[in-house]
Amino acid sequence: MELSANAKINLTLDILRKREDGYHDLQMVMQSVTLADALTVAPAREAEGQAVSDLHFLPTGGKNLVQIAAAAFRQATGLGGEVDVSIQKHVPVCAGLAGGSADAAAVLTAMNRLAGAGLSPAELAKIGERVGSDVPFCVLGGTALAEGRGEVLTPLSPLPPCHIVVCKPPFSISTPQLFGRVNVRKIVRRPDTAGVIAALDAGDLAGVARRMYNVFEDVLEPRRASEISEIKAALIDCGALGASMSGSGPSVFGLFDDSDSAQAACDRLRETYRDVFLCGPAGAE
Ligand code: C5P
Repeated sequence: MELSANAKINLTLDILRKREDGYHDLQMVMQSVTLADALTVAPAREAEGQAVSDLHFLPTGGKNLVQIAAAAFRQATGLGGEVDVSIQKHVPVCAGLAGGSADAAAVLTAMNRLAGAGLSPAELAKIGERVGSDVPFCVLGGTALAEGRGEVLTPLSPLPPCHIVVCKPPFSISTPQLFGRVNVRKIVRRPDTAGVIAALDAGDLAGVARRMYNVFEDVLEPRRASEISEIKAALIDCGALGASMSGSGPSVFGLFDDSDSAQAACDRLRETYRDVFLCGPAGAE
């Protein structure tokens, strides 16, 4: 079975409080994008399922997130056997784009079909909670408000058609470390989440774009922060209606209403960066 696993961007990311369990309560407007990994899922040839990808440093066995998802599915449903998963990675890893979570979500969807389990997307998303905080959103996809750890999802009006330029600078940021740097009482700048939702309802792309913000941008190390700002400035300079960092970074994206401007932004960023992608919004499952 062949599937595509769509990446996500955060139109907004706000941190509301630190919880007793060590996680943080978040409020994020999440958007699936057409940038995607390509997966093949098949019954395992040996006793234990494998995970192979074109990135040699990803784990190949039970530690790969796709095999953790497969095990969570078997445990929750009592259905489905071991599976071999082959992944063609197009979404950069450790990038704030939920590439690993998207692969895990795709495997949950594949196992549901292979085993004929007939679970609803909401039921699959529930299983995904055990695999990672972004997995439930990746199961449902589209445009959604994510709250709690990221697993409490409310579908939103879709992002209007647009061109999305994603640029990942060549460093990675540890998500737990970045959360560790956040002092919730000291957050001064926050995204206008309600304004973004209202702009989505109105089909107002420019209204969405100018209200986007990610509170993690304020806790980056200074040299990382300046690189993120430079990429945002280049996107805006090329005509983006708005630009923001996605998730815990370091990917930065810009929203464009004009394809020539989006292409010009890609060309300009590719002079400096290898991982630059032109994509669009993807709908819900
Ligand atoms: O759930 P996931 O494994 O993706 O989370 C990775 C890490 O990010 C967690 O161990 C936690 O440190 C942090 N996190 C958090 N609050 C969230 C989601 C993740 O503090 N809502």
